[in-house]
Amino acid sequence: MLKPIQIKENLYYVGVNDRSKELFENLWPLPKGVSYNSYLIVDEKTALFDTVDICYSDRFFQKLETALDGRQLDYVVINHMEPDHSGSLGLLKAKYPNVQVVGNKRTADMIQGFHGITDNVMLVSDGDQLPLGKHNLVFYLTPMVHWPETMMTYETTDKIIFSGDAFGTFGTLDGGITDAQLHPERYYDEMIRYYSNIVGKFGSPVQKALEKLNNLDINYICSTHGPVWTLPQQIEKVVNIYDKLSRYEGNEGVVIAYGTMYGNTEQMAETIAHELAVQGIKEVIVHNVSKRSDSYILRDIFKYRGLIVGSPTYNNKLYPNIEYLLSKIESREMKNRYFGYFGSFTWAGAAVKRLAQFAEDTKFEVVGTPVEMKQSMQLDNYTACVELGKAMAARLILDRKQ
Ligand SMILES: Cc1cc2nc3c(=O)[nH]c(=O)nc-3n(C[C@H](O)[C@H](O)[C@H](O)COP(=O)(O)O)c2cc1C
Ligand SMILES: [Fe+2]
Ligand SMILES: [Fe+2]
Repeated sequence: MLKPIQIKENLYYVGVNDRSKELFENLWPLPKGVSYNSYLIVDEKTALFDTVDICYSDRFFQKLETALDGRQLDYVVINHMEPDHSGSLGLLKAKYPNVQVVGNKRTADMIQGFHGITDNVMLVSDGDQLPLGKHNLVFYLTPMVHWPETMMTYETTDKIIFSGDAFGTFGTLDGGITDAQLHPERYYDEMIRYYSNIVGKFGSPVQKALEKLNNLDINYICSTHGPVWTLPQQIEKVVNIYDKLSRYEGNEGVVIAYGTMYGNTEQMAETIAHELAVQGIKEVIVHNVSKRSDSYILRDIFKYRGLIVGSPTYNNKLYPNIEYLLSKIESREMKNRYFGYFGSFTWAGAAVKRLAQFAEDTKFEVVGTPVEMKQSMQLDNYTACVELGKAMAARLILDRKQ
């Protein structure tokens, strides 16, 4: 028998921790695991919000059954149909055949396609309400945060927003469930990583969703991953994080991402990085793309305004891992970055040309003069790298004055 965790009167956490999965979406590392959050409101009617990954359905059902304490399950609200949340829906429907599945038109198509569910589906539109007794639900459609069917559900009495993936974080819930029960600082970076990896492309839909939330009084943010946000200053903090990320606003700082086989291009990165520090830029994050997963590099690119990329020429192209990274930046439609670049070659350079193309495609503001090095570091290249570092620092420092 597993027990649910009571968040407040009539609100239960029936989610689970996943400490086994190596890669979220088979792409993004999970060194601190991830939680799949599901919640139950018990009132005159009972309502479940999302489910969990099917690998954890057994634990989830045990918690749900204990929380229901003999009551029937009246509604399951599907805020998001991605299998990390809806994976247990088919089993849930088999276990509770009379449950009404609540979703919008886009959700209905997906629950039919993934789970073959067509009966007892309650379709809701933006602003529709569903009374549960003392509690009352209002549905807000927030398409493309980050799937087309995504919506959020607001409970008006206790002022709870069931936000789907929005405000979610990587990292399991170790002990505490709410921000008041743990040190929330340890989740901020994992929130930014989750956002940049999973949601990053959808800045404008996130802005629209935030506008809808703007008029709501919120006491609890119940996301599908990571802590439940309950403290006023934490709620303000995570809403601000989302606002800033979805506007593609970065802090003062520079990410230098480079590829290297034998260390020559790396020396260029080192030179530029040090000059940034000499000029007073304290946040300089240097990533060797072969060592660090793109997951973390993207996180830092979302955090900081400055981006400098360096690559050797590899079979007349960019170094492969740099090419992957650029495609991930482009597919997130990254904006508002100051961009510098450098590269190396031995017989015919191609890397710097491709980086110039990337700068043009992304419309980033190019800062400094790109550096192209033949074979190894000589005084002229060294000086050019120092100049590139200086130029990037100067561009960032200029912003301080505004
Ligand atoms: C597999 C491989 C492919 C390469 N392809 C090219 C190339 O197409 N054109 C070129 O000028 N240099 C090429 N090079 C040479 C490197 O780009 C050059 O030596 C560079 O400075 C290496 O930088 P690194 O020391 O940071 O790895 C290649 C090197 C390797 C190992
Ligand atoms: Fe999702
Ligand atoms: Fe998710």
